[in-house]
Amino acid sequence: MQIFFRNFGRNGSNISVVLFVKGEIGMDYYDLIRKRHSMRNYDPQKPVSGEVLKRILNAGRLAPSAANRQPWEFIVISSAEMLEKVRKCYDKSWFRDAPHILIVKGNQDSAWRRRYDGYNSIETDLTIAMDHLVLAATNEGVGTCWIAAFDPSILRDALKLGEMEKVFAITPLGYPQEGYKPPEGKSRKSLHEVARFL
Ligand SMILES: Cc1cc2nc3c(=O)[nH]c(=O)nc-3n(C[C@H](O)[C@H](O)[C@H](O)COP(=O)(O)O)c2cc1C
Repeated sequence: MQIFFRNFGRNGSNISVVLFVKGEIGMDYYDLIRKRHSMRNYDPQKPVSGEVLKRILNAGRLAPSAANRQPWEFIVISSAEMLEKVRKCYDKSWFRDAPHILIVKGNQDSAWRRRYDGYNSIETDLTIAMDHLVLAATNEGVGTCWIAAFDPSILRDALKLGEMEKVFAITPLGYPQEGYKPPEGKSRKSLHEVARFL
């Protein structure tokens, strides 16, 4: 952990203010971006506290959306009964270990629609909300893995979704098992391959 001080004292006086503490929780934004990774390792015995879950969900609530329609609902699955149903939608052992599964669902009818060509903003809105949720979880030291390869029909049945309701993304939420080592660095294209200054 690193602690960053700034001295605001005049004439050699020693008034220091802690600017931020760099560690697991409450990170500098760029550290947060680097630290977020798809965690595929969960300890079923380590649930996330209700307080932390609420802070994460609140970050999703504050996400922007087209015309501020907020066409989303965030569902945290934690009960043994619901976990058993929902876990069947993605057949991986690490997914089954997660103590919580966060589901981001939305209603296309509630989202903004562009009048010129009918473009509907639902996927964009929910993607932004999901990104807010995932980054907030990272900021809380809670692991996530964005999952799109789930079986939607299993979730539809488990959550009793209506005709226009759709699940767009899910993620486990939890802490890793003892000895878990996060990946070092990121496998990404270089900046000059993906960005240009004109
Ligand atoms: C839209 C989307 C869908 C994804 N679906 C899955 C998935 O179904 N299963 C999985 O294990 N990872 C999934 N991922 C995670 C990606 O594989 C991962 O983000 C990518 O390999 C980069 O690794 P990182 O997240 O550790 O930086 C998904 C990510 C995104 C953004």
